[in-house]
Amino acid sequence: MSNTIDVQISQLQEYGVVVGRQLTSSFVSFCNDRFFGDRIYVMIDEKVNELHGNRVEEMCKQVFENVRILPVPEGETSKSLSEWNKYINILLEEGVERSTPLMAVGGGVTGDLGGYVAASVLRGIPLLHMPTSLLAMVDSSIGGKTGINHNTGKNLIGAFYQPDAVFTDVSFLKTLEQSEWITGMAEILKYAAIDNPDIFEELEVLVGKSLSPNEQWGKVIRESVRIKVDIVQQDALEAGKRAYLNFGHTFGHALENLTGYGKLSHGEAVFVGMIAATYYSSQLGHPVDDNAFAPFVSFFREQMAELPRNVDKLIDSMKSDKKVKNNTIRLVLLNGWGSPYIHECTNYSLLEDSWEYALARFN
Ligand SMILES: NC(=O)c1ccc[n+]([C@@H]2O[C@H](COP(=O)([O-])OP(=O)(O)OC[C@H]3O[C@@H](n4cnc5c(N)ncnc54)[C@H](O)[C@@H]3O)[C@@H](O)[C@H]2O)c1
Repeated sequence: MSNTIDVQISQLQEYGVVVGRQLTSSFVSFCNDRFFGDRIYVMIDEKVNELHGNRVEEMCKQVFENVRILPVPEGETSKSLSEWNKYINILLEEGVERSTPLMAVGGGVTGDLGGYVAASVLRGIPLLHMPTSLLAMVDSSIGGKTGINHNTGKNLIGAFYQPDAVFTDVSFLKTLEQSEWITGMAEILKYAAIDNPDIFEELEVLVGKSLSPNEQWGKVIRESVRIKVDIVQQDALEAGKRAYLNFGHTFGHALENLTGYGKLSHGEAVFVGMIAATYYSSQLGHPVDDNAFAPFVSFFREQMAELPRNVDKLIDSMKSDKKVKNNTIRLVLLNGWGSPYIHECTNYSLLEDSWEYALARFN
């Protein structure tokens, strides 16, 4: 099975996200048509390289004589200036050309770093994404955000740089750990809330069974890709609608901040944040009920670190966000399922109640 979702950013920028299993033939025919050189750079997450590197290399060798594999150390610390510099040096010293493609294979870390290397070397070389984590498949490989962290904050250096194609082979997921499924699932639930509530039911069935890349997971992943593509196409540079993708995230970032990064996963934090945002919306009279998230609570709670209980500190953390102006916190709320909007929050007592409510679900 495979299916291509077209992304049209502008008249000059169009590419496909191929979603399926065993995508060698799609990859080979795309590269044969698109590239004339004999070399490809493959920046691949170190762990993914151990698990799937042979398959990726074999696939590339069907098109390119010279396949240069560059393993990227696992983890967020790889999104740094020093790592970026390391790969830029390798490419330039080896005489990379404007037409030489670079493929990023791995989760969001390798995708963001590899994407930014491709965006910046020689003012941009062709980029391919091959996401291997659930989060990268449904979120980070789509939309063209690339970048690295700075010691003053996350993702502060980077560029919007669209790939030439994305090859989303769901069979990579068979080796993904449960904690990483959770991270990706939070984003899929976000798409359910802001676009297509049918996903709630589909995901409930899947979570009750096994976490393996079967056809049903493929369907949910394809639908998630479609939703992200739809939003990105309308707002590639994040000037408006793309902000809806932050549903649950303003709450979630405050939780991550207070718990300490690394203790609570991003997905767990966003999950709690989505319950708080849904409760807030319902208290404004909008017809949404956070019970939609109930079937997933025990799943997310399983490995969750203890949550901070100090609501004042959580609200202070939300206020300290760089985007907050005049103490007005911008929240993505729901008019109804599938209908997000931006709310300028000045009602801190409702915010407090929403935090209390969401945290109590995890007691
Ligand atoms: N560019 C964007 O639009 C965007 C959007 C969301 C998140 N992000 C970024 O994405 C990053 C998080 O991405 P992530 O959650 O994928 O993290 P990650 O890249 O660190 O991958 C998570 C873990 O999964 C492992 N892994 C990946 N694929 C695997 C597989 N098939 N089998 C076994 N293990 C596998 C990796 O080795 C790693 O340990 C953050 O840096 C975040 O800022 C970017």
